[in-house]
Amino acid sequence: RIVPVILSGGSGTRLWPVSRDGLPKQLWALASGRTMLQETALRASGTLPDGTGFAPALVVCNQEHRFLVAEQLAAVGIADRRIVLEPVGRNSAAAVAAAACLLAEDDPEALLWMMAADAVVADVAALHRLLPAAVAAARAGRLVTFGIAPAGAETGYGYIELGAALPEAPGAHAVARFTEKPAAAVAAEFAASGRHLWNSGMFVATARTLLRELGEHAPEVLAAVAEAVARRQQDLDFTRLEAAAFAQAPSLSLDHAVAEHTRQAAVVPADIAWSDVGSWDALWRLGAKDAAGNVAAGDALLVGAEDCYVRGEGILTAVVGLKDAVVVATPDAVLAVHRDQAQQVREVVRRLQATH
Ligand code: GDD
Ligand code: MG
Repeated sequence: RIVPVILSGGSGTRLWPVSRDGLPKQLWALASGRTMLQETALRASGTLPDGTGFAPALVVCNQEHRFLVAEQLAAVGIADRRIVLEPVGRNSAAAVAAAACLLAEDDPEALLWMMAADAVVADVAALHRLLPAAVAAARAGRLVTFGIAPAGAETGYGYIELGAALPEAPGAHAVARFTEKPAAAVAAEFAASGRHLWNSGMFVATARTLLRELGEHAPEVLAAVAEAVARRQQDLDFTRLEAAAFAQAPSLSLDHAVAEHTRQAAVVPADIAWSDVGSWDALWRLGAKDAAGNVAAGDALLVGAEDCYVRGEGILTAVVGLKDAVVVATPDAVLAVHRDQAQQVREVVRRLQATH
């Protein structure tokens, strides 16, 4: 059985002011009627075409979100799951290390399917058909990702250069090189090369492989997290990682810490209608549009607007005569930004953190 490991600890700063530390984007229903955590968890249910099933999911999240996470999973019928609590966010390498340490206690060969909680996969059936190829490569000791054909020169993604096909795992390829968040010129070159794929942010590997690769490429992360796991406490049905040890882990993404450096990476090219829900512009692209190309969400009223994204969250929000604008209002903050500049919203959060 595959163990789904859901990383639900990011704060989603580009979706401010809706996404905040107290209620980050993965806990909101932004792209469908369900929250992104719920959509992600439901993606790992049922049985694969080859008969493989899923073990109960392990969710790694901040301790502040424990009841919300438990409630949201219960609301979609997922009661059998394990929730692992981080005292502070130390990025995805530490979150994955915690999952690998815990699962390796029972079975070092446990197969982990790590999933970011901030993506939409419209063709889940296609993803399920591709999982066995990833599993075969993972059983052979690889760290496997799903690669998406690039739709542009985005700089916010990891880029995977496709290597030779792996005979032991039909459908999977070796990774010639993994480059996380390249500069704009490099991203443009990669996107045009025909040899590069975007990293979907989903990985498959055994616990043993993850511990080996973390030990080799991020030993400080692994040492701190292993200690936090050894000193963990059980609180109701939550697993609390020990705070002092966990805080010692350097804050690194799995992509920077491991995927860029491992010689054992593999990729399964995946045509699964994937989209990252990273920015308001992404939500505009995903959303259902009116005749003038607008996406209206919540309490919104539009007059003569074109190609806009407008969201009134608990407050009536009216937009007149704007084009290509994003307007998002909440009771205590309002955002107005050009759709082309939606990536810059994280600067707002950076400034707020510096001054508030
Ligand atoms: N538990 C936990 N703790 N989860 C975390 C933490 C943390 O401290 N930090 C991030 N995560 C989770 C996020 O919630 C998200 O589900 C996932 O890890 C990825 O983190 P992001 O911060 O969203 O990464 P990114 O979007 O910049 O880049 C990643 O995703 C891209 C695709 O969307 C990378 O994997 C890229 O290579 C990839 O292309
Ligand atoms: Mg992301």
